[in-house]
Amino acid sequence: MSVITTRREGDVLIVTADSPPVNALGAAVRQGLIDAIAEAEGDDAVKAVIIIAAGRTFFAGADITEFGKPLAEPSLPTVCDRIEACAKPVVAAIHGTALGGGLEVALACHYRIAVPSARLGLPEVKLGIIPGAGGTQRLPRVVGVEAATPIVVTGSPVGAAKAQAIGLVDRLAGETTLAADALALAQEIIGKPRPVSSERRDRLGQNDAQAITEYRTKNARKLAGFEAPEAAFEALTAASELSFADGMAREGELFHRLLAGDQSRALRHVFFAERAAAKVDGVAAGTTPAAIGSVGILGAGTMGGGIAMNFLSAGVPVTILEREQAALDRGVATIRRNYEATAAKGRMTPDDVERAMRLLTPTLNLEDLANCDLVIEAVFELMAIKKDVFRRLDATIKKDAILATNTSFLNVDEIAAITSRPENVIGLHFFSPANVMKLLEVVRGEKTADQVLVTAMALAKKIGKVAVVSGVCHGFIGNRMLVPRQDQADALVLEGASPAEVDQVLLDFGFPMGPFQMTDLAGMDIGWDPEKTASSTVREILCEMGRLGQKSGAGYYDYDASRKRTPSDVVGKVIRDFATAHNIPQRSIGRDEILERLLYPLVNEGSLILEEGMAQRASDIDIVWLNGYGWPAYTGGPMFWADTVGLDTVVAGLRRHADKIDGLRISSLLEKKAAAGERFNA
Ligand code: 3HC
Ligand code: NAI
Repeated sequence: MSVITTRREGDVLIVTADSPPVNALGAAVRQGLIDAIAEAEGDDAVKAVIIIAAGRTFFAGADITEFGKPLAEPSLPTVCDRIEACAKPVVAAIHGTALGGGLEVALACHYRIAVPSARLGLPEVKLGIIPGAGGTQRLPRVVGVEAATPIVVTGSPVGAAKAQAIGLVDRLAGETTLAADALALAQEIIGKPRPVSSERRDRLGQNDAQAITEYRTKNARKLAGFEAPEAAFEALTAASELSFADGMAREGELFHRLLAGDQSRALRHVFFAERAAAKVDGVAAGTTPAAIGSVGILGAGTMGGGIAMNFLSAGVPVTILEREQAALDRGVATIRRNYEATAAKGRMTPDDVERAMRLLTPTLNLEDLANCDLVIEAVFELMAIKKDVFRRLDATIKKDAILATNTSFLNVDEIAAITSRPENVIGLHFFSPANVMKLLEVVRGEKTADQVLVTAMALAKKIGKVAVVSGVCHGFIGNRMLVPRQDQADALVLEGASPAEVDQVLLDFGFPMGPFQMTDLAGMDIGWDPEKTASSTVREILCEMGRLGQKSGAGYYDYDASRKRTPSDVVGKVIRDFATAHNIPQRSIGRDEILERLLYPLVNEGSLILEEGMAQRASDIDIVWLNGYGWPAYTGGPMFWADTVGLDTVVAGLRRHADKIDGLRISSLLEKKAAAGERFNA
């Protein structure tokens, strides 16, 4: 069947796109649209045209799989120009999402009607590009520069009501009557003047440059490092200052330059990597997720409370268990405080807060969790305690329930083995703060049943997490790779780099935080035992001195009352003395060496994880680091970054620094790929 079909309804030509799954504007769709417009123009009986889509959405944008390949004619800008130039009025009838090229097609149409649930946006910056079919030129002409700027620069879509308020949509249709309402609109406009977006200047004005500058200044930190938003500002400026034709030329130049660049390549990789991560290898076909109608959580501490919020926000009732009333009250109060803070920022209503809190049942009785479909344990990180808890869970919770552990490092198989139902045990490793961080590592135990795994993946999607499957190994994917980076950070300061120098190299790379800042934020005393401390590491000594991190006003850095950090002379001396006492010569260390020693061992660990089958694919590892550890998206994640650097370069670097990397075992997969000139990601 053709991806574009036409039919007549009175004097209106209905052009229907049907190219599953998301009506991306591939070559056949583009040609079909051109042909449909020609048909409309060639038929005197046609007085108006409607472009509408079958399936779940209006056009979701250009076909991203075509990027990087030779362009097949007609190009999307040509299609948009052709639609706009149509002598008969064209109506875009929008449901689902009109994104990127999809919105550009809609902007080229003379009228836009949308169902209330529709979302409209230009997400190109998320792919490291800007709109390339007139989006940056037509949108500001239709809605004004001030309203267009956030849409183009952040890539976040707007809902139909907002779109109508800013003039992007002319009319809202009934949720289920789009076709009929679009037809009524088409009939109304027959014989009336056609508004042509590219010819408008009424929404452009004197204050455009100032609006762009203000937006850029206000969002500088958020946008730092990304090339596409900067190009978007340039294109928007062109829309305001140049003719449409010159503005289009500017947009085209910027679009093609970005499309050929490393950032766009990396961000396109991220787009497909995110979708690949949701797919689980080796699961029997037809396995469907079980329904999870209620969740039990053990432990209302840092993690338990945050985990609970995910489910409450998604409308799933939660019963939360603590050992003592005081801890329970504290945990529940923290949940309420977090929700109220969100409401204070206007991101939820007071009613939403109460609705979420009503779904929460605090308890001190394990029996109250007996009928939960899923129980997640988030108690102290000690194997003996976890085993005790799972033994009791096994005895109390209904037999077909899933039992999950939020352990950071412990062996999920060992925990599962204590129960009579290891097939129902799984790791659900949330990241802190668990109500905010997108990543969820789903740890597949040796005996975890396919359905349990599939259920966990579906549940992750429901609560808005990006889930990645990990095998059972120490620290799973993310924390296991963090260990060699931290080891090298510690080694580098003993050899003469300051904590601030080490952190700065990673900040410049694009991380929001360096390893020492991260330690100060998390608390220096995690895992520190004041009873057993023996001044055996710099960190131990700093803990002994009461430097516990930000919370005590001092850690690797000094902090003032507003938590502004400054490098500490005291810490510098502690490090120097420690190095001297351990015969470690100090020297000045270059930024390249710091970066290589922090990141190459991390990539190597990723390769070992892949080699051992602990991750399903290299891109899953990228997703872990992008969503759990602040790896800068525009480099694509550690494995994609290593591909970009060249795997032979990584191996040579590891060999060069081998004597300084304790316990280094170079992954044979990495060596093999490097020797063959291969990449982790195709
Ligand atoms: N091109 C090619 N494939 C696409 C695609 C696109 N624009 N959008 C989605 N797909 C594919 C996905 O890869 C996925 O494939 P898979 O099933 O093989 O994994 C399938 O369609 C379904 O996608 P999702 O799983 O993401 O489906 P959802 O229903 O969750 O989301 C969506 C739908 C909101 C439309 C989401 O797919 C999306 O955000 N798509 C990308 C939108 C986008 O970035 N558009 C701009 C493209 S760039 C552009 O238009 C340039 C222009 O200015 C010249
Ligand atoms: P926490 O110390 O803040 O909370 C643990 C809570 O569990 C305490 O409130 C304690 O009273 C309660 N508890 C202990 N035994 C219990 C029992 N038998 N029944 C009911 N409640 C019990 O610890 P946190 O940080 O929340 O960690 C919990 C788990 O999550 C650990 O396994 C940890 O490794 C893991 N984790 C922690 C992360 C973090 O950044 N804090 C990140 C990811 C995982």
